[in-house]
Amino acid sequence: MEGYEKFKDDVFKLTKIDLDAYKERQMKRRIDTLITKNNIKTYDDYVRTIKADAKMFNEFVNYLTINVSEFYRNPEQWGLLDKEVFPRLIEMYGKNLKIWSAACSTGDEPYSLVMALSKFLPLNQIKIIATDIDSQVLHKAQVGLYNAKSVESVPKEFLNKYFTKIGQSYQIGDEIKQRVEFKQHNLLKDPYPSACNLIVCRNVLIYFTEEAKDEIYKKFHDALARDGILFIGSTEQIMQYKELGFGRYKSFFYSKE
Ligand SMILES: C[S@@+](CC[C@H](N)C(=O)[O-])C[C@H]1O[C@@H](n2cnc3c(N)ncnc32)[C@H](O)[C@@H]1O
Repeated sequence: MEGYEKFKDDVFKLTKIDLDAYKERQMKRRIDTLITKNNIKTYDDYVRTIKADAKMFNEFVNYLTINVSEFYRNPEQWGLLDKEVFPRLIEMYGKNLKIWSAACSTGDEPYSLVMALSKFLPLNQIKIIATDIDSQVLHKAQVGLYNAKSVESVPKEFLNKYFTKIGQSYQIGDEIKQRVEFKQHNLLKDPYPSACNLIVCRNVLIYFTEEAKDEIYKKFHDALARDGILFIGSTEQIMQYKELGFGRYKSFFYSKE
C-alpha cells in the first residue's frame, strides 16, 4: 500500500505511537493485513475510519502492540529468578525491592512476579510497578481473568492458592492484584522510574529498530540502582552490553556495573 510515511505521521498524532521506532517491514506487513481484512483500500481511508469509530481504533492499537503474554513465560528463566536472582537482590538491597515490569501486557508477568516473590517476602511487603503503552491490556490486567493456556505454567500450589476458576477462566486473587500498580507508559517517550532493583522487560524490544533498542537499554541502565538487574526475553540478547555499562549475570539477566 502507498503512503506509509504519511500514515506513520497520522498514527503518531492519533495514538502517540511512533512507528519509526518499530522494525518497518514487519510492522507494515501487519498493518496492511489488518487494513485489508477490514476491506479498506488506502491508509487515508483507514485513518478516517479509526478516527470516527472507537471500536476500530481500539482494534488497531491492540493489533499494533502485539500483546500475547502468559504467566511464567519461559519457566526455566523463572527458575533462575527464584533460585539465584531474588536471593541475590534480597541479600543486596533487603526486603524493600523496587521492581518494574515494563511492557507488562495483560498482567501475567507482574502477577507472576508477585507470586514468585511471595516465597521470599510476605505479600504485604511486595510492590510491583507494571506499565504498558496500551490502555486496553492494562484494563484486562486489572480485571484479571485468564484462560487455561495463560496459566499453564503457574506452579500448582499457586494456581490453587491464588486463582478462582470461573467457568473456563481463572480469576487472579485480590491479594495478588493489590501488590501491583498499573500505569500507562510509553517506553519511547515517557520518563522512566529510578533506582529500580529489578527491571523486567521481555518480548517487546524485538519489535523495535536497533537505534530505538539502544536508546531504551540506556534508559533502563539509568533507571536501575547500582548492581540492579535487567531481565529480558528468551529470544533477546544485548549485543553491546559492555558499552552500555551492563555485566552479564546469567543468560537473559544483565546487571548494572
Ligand atoms: C508481546 S507483549 C510482552 C508481554 C510480556 N512482557 C511478556 O513477555 O509476556 C509486548 C507488549 O509491549 C507493549 N508495547 C509495545 N510498544 C510499547 C511501547 N512503546 N511502550 C510500552 N509498551 C509497549 C505492547 O502493548 C504489549 O503489551
